[in-house]
Amino acid sequence: MNRLLLDALACENRARPPIWLMRQAGRYMPEYRALREKHSFSTMYKEPELAAKVTCLPIDTFGFDAAILFSDILVMAEAFGLGLHFEEKVGPIIDNPLSTEQDVDGLVIPKIDEKLHYVFKAIKMLKPQLKVPLIGFCGAPFTVASYMIEGKSSKDLKKTKRWMLSHPESFHRLLDKIAVSTIDYLKKQIEAGVDAIQIFDSWANTLAFPQFQEFSYAYLQKIRQELSQTNIPVILFCRGSSVFAEDLARMNPSCISLDWNCDIVKMRNRIPKHVALQGNLDPDVLYASKEILKKEIERILKGMKGDPAFIFNLGHGIMPDTPVDAVKMLVECVKNDER
Ligand code: CP3
Repeated sequence: MNRLLLDALACENRARPPIWLMRQAGRYMPEYRALREKHSFSTMYKEPELAAKVTCLPIDTFGFDAAILFSDILVMAEAFGLGLHFEEKVGPIIDNPLSTEQDVDGLVIPKIDEKLHYVFKAIKMLKPQLKVPLIGFCGAPFTVASYMIEGKSSKDLKKTKRWMLSHPESFHRLLDKIAVSTIDYLKKQIEAGVDAIQIFDSWANTLAFPQFQEFSYAYLQKIRQELSQTNIPVILFCRGSSVFAEDLARMNPSCISLDWNCDIVKMRNRIPKHVALQGNLDPDVLYASKEILKKEIERILKGMKGDPAFIFNLGHGIMPDTPVDAVKMLVECVKNDER
């Protein structure tokens, strides 16, 4: 078993840094696109054999040091009965988004075992095959709530923020319901065998600092506290981490995943040493010339040299039109890094 990721999460990696990428199993891979010609995205994550196969694709092709389960954060909205489908070139659509306070009060905490059984089956199937750690994941309650309200991807989360600011009590009731079932969901992923958890707060960047405290941090902390009984490493990814990272560190996550806006070396000096850092190459740098790409990768590697608690990743998910050769070069550069 390749333990680089787990060692870095424990802040005691003495070898080169581990590397994996958010959205590493996706459309930039020709093997993925070939499978997608035959199956819809939802079939791919709902059929455990297919989900397991896709999870392994980038490990076999590029040699990443960790696998992330092939699924989506929005399965939670589906588990709550709101309906979910993915439209080509549009993205996720929630069939019955929440629009009234009664809608929130009518939401019943789902039986996760039944609704998301395919996730746990895929994890159990994957574990014996993998020689790298398997990362399970979920969306942060704020981010999942935003999709439940907007019904699709939105740049400004107008409906969500209007609701949050004009009816904070019902917004909190919604966040609480999502947090309760997310805790259940993560505990079941852990029982099924994942080695680490990443929580994605992809829309935290839309929140003002006090709003983040009240409507996101509080629920992340609740999840973090519940998981602390399990000893499982927890990685917090939050768009806006350049602003929120120091605060997130007070929650004692195993690791904070940084977006590309911040200087990771400066951040290292501000975050306690018992919290690992993951990041933070701008995904767009993968479009650059080989020379520039190499220079930008090495800038991060040099800055973090010898750090026992550093995981190489992008600042956000890899883009679907990323050249495969750039990914190969990235992995090679990190693997050739000498301590
Ligand atoms: O990282 C991985 O390889 C694991 C799988 C994974 C997916 N989505 C697969 C996916 C993970 C961890 C996610 C998380 C996710 N999903 C987030 C948080 C991370 C982030 O990017 O901020 C969010 C916000 C979603 C919701 C979602 N799912 C959107 C907005 C979209 C459409 C945008 C897009 O990239 O097409 C999806 C679809 C999706 N999720 C795809 C994949 C591989 C594309 C599906 C396809 O058409 O093949």
